Amino acid sequence: IMAPLVDPFGRAITYLRISVTDRCDLRCVYCMAEDMTFLPKRDLLTLEELDRLAGAFVRAGTRKLRITGGEPLVRREVMSLFERLGTRLGHGLDELTLTTNGTQLARHAAALRAAGVRRVNVSLDTLDRDRFAAITRWGRIEQVLDGIAAAKAAGLAIKINAVALKGVNEDEFDRMLEWCGEEGLDLCLIETMPMGEVADRSDQYLPLSLVRSRLRRRWTLAETDYRTGGPARYYTVAETGRRIGFITPMTHNFCESCNRVRLTCTGTLYMCLGQDDQADLRAVLRSGVDDAGLDAALRAAIARKPKGHDFIIDRTNRPAVGRHMSVTGG
Ligand code: GTP
Ligand code: 5AD
Ligand code: SF4
Repeated sequence: IMAPLVDPFGRAITYLRISVTDRCDLRCVYCMAEDMTFLPKRDLLTLEELDRLAGAFVRAGTRKLRITGGEPLVRREVMSLFERLGTRLGHGLDELTLTTNGTQLARHAAALRAAGVRRVNVSLDTLDRDRFAAITRWGRIEQVLDGIAAAKAAGLAIKINAVALKGVNEDEFDRMLEWCGEEGLDLCLIETMPMGEVADRSDQYLPLSLVRSRLRRRWTLAETDYRTGGPARYYTVAETGRRIGFITPMTHNFCESCNRVRLTCTGTLYMCLGQDDQADLRAVLRSGVDDAGLDAALRAAIARKPKGHDFIIDRTNRPAVGRHMSVTGG
């Protein structure tokens, strides 16, 4: 067994997020530009290559794998990747999970569960169908709601991710918390981050400390030390018995306890969501290295993980990094 991956700031890297495609069937306004250029297929890692890299990470101490995109469920044959990765559960891997927009979830829920997935994060910023269509540019909310129902029926635990947007969905959080209570789901609110050029974002920042105090007019929130290994800080909601999480990169930085890195569908490893530091693992893989060589490449990459992001809220709408959120899927 190998020594765990530890970065220059003493943080153990135990969580790998893998983006399996840059494509998405939606076009959320804060995530992608309206006209995105997608990668040609030949640039993508094959599913075998993704699995080999994941295996190298698991041998080096990764305990949690999250599959993202773009939208992960639009990648062809993605279920065979889940099946392969699922065989690593109990052999170093504790959790295999995904973040999805939910549009294809109905079709895949049972197979995900069978592959070993126990929990999914579904992005849903609103319960209003017209608003959903506006935020996603053309999405149909019914597809997502069907996906959530199917995931529940398949026995998957569900966390709803909602990006908090001033003047867009800020009037809905009471309703969403209530709905999550009725449906037996956790809710996680996220501060919007300045990644990639998108249409007007600068006016949409909403500090979650404000949202939390508004929610407290109606709900009894109690801090809990429940943790998933992700960045959210959770509260229990006495009235519903469910949890609400807050992800606050802008107002309350959590980089000090960062445990994760991100692999893109082309094999680029990004050391931080808010920085450009990267390593080309596709080149390493395709150079024909053995497992020891691959392990050395991971260690060399982690040795360059920066301290944290430098996201700032400004009025200029200039992103902190050029790449869109969809490149790494969060
Ligand atoms: P759990 O396993 O349920 O905790 O999920 P998670 O929060 O790790 O992953 P998810 O894909 O649901 O991400 C939710 C939001 O958190 C997304 O907007 C991500 O971009 C954001 N996020 C996750 N990790 C980081 C991080 O290291 N830094 C920043 N700034 N944001 C992050
Ligand atoms: N800021 C914060 N969260 C974002 N997401 C996409 N773009 C942004 C952004 N600019 C969210 C999605 C999804 C998760 C992976 O990241 O809504 O829930
Ligand atoms: Fe697609 Fe998710 Fe980005 Fe929305 S946030 S465009 S669903 S990748």
